[in-house]
Amino acid sequence: MKAIYALAAAMTILTVPVGAASAQQPAPAAGAPASASEQPSRQPDVPYVPTPQEVVDAMLELAAVKKGDVVYDLGSGDGRIPITAAKRYGVTAMGIDINPQRVKEANENAQKEGVTDRVSFRTADLFTTDLSKANVVTLYLLPDVNLKLRPKLLKELKPGSRIVSHAFNMGDWEPEVTKNIDGRTIYLWTVPQRK
Ligand SMILES: C[S@@+](CC[C@H](N)C(=O)[O-])C[C@H]1O[C@@H](n2cnc3c(N)ncnc32)[C@H](O)[C@@H]1O
Repeated sequence: MKAIYALAAAMTILTVPVGAASAQQPAPAAGAPASASEQPSRQPDVPYVPTPQEVVDAMLELAAVKKGDVVYDLGSGDGRIPITAAKRYGVTAMGIDINPQRVKEANENAQKEGVTDRVSFRTADLFTTDLSKANVVTLYLLPDVNLKLRPKLLKELKPGSRIVSHAFNMGDWEPEVTKNIDGRTIYLWTVPQRK
């Protein structure tokens, strides 16, 4: 429980991106104002805190990503999860982020990593994005955001789709697997058959 509060606090404090070795981007000069087109349309529900690369790798492993899967990262930051999915597993992947600055960085990273044929990023609100094409969804959000998103995931994703969340669970929807990776918790759920 303590760890959840610590992470939530870290998310509140850490709004400056710390890039992974394979997806590092220079941060804008401190205090430099973003242009109007780089501003989110509304306040993001979660601040930007990147998932460490070893946890990204473990999340994709836990989801058992395989050829033919379509991976969506909701709140994709610098794009490391979709980019890793495309590089390691050759799958199609999409990142959704409400912050156009993050999407710009993610597109630049996809270009550097040579995966623009399989990865795309969209500036959009995850709550209004159609998720029906995904069969693997990754999350690093916050407890209340996961709970708000849960009915949409259950409604739009096909039965059998996998959801992996870094750090935060889904309330009383019990995960099938919970794993600890270097002190971080990751969770796996599978969308059940509809009744
Ligand atoms: C904690 S970061 C996770 C980044 C990335 N998924 C990772 O694990 O490294 C959360 C991201 O969600 C984005 N975000 C917050 N609210 C959002 C919303 N309503 N729709 C889409 N993206 C959102 C933020 O801009 C931020 O980049």
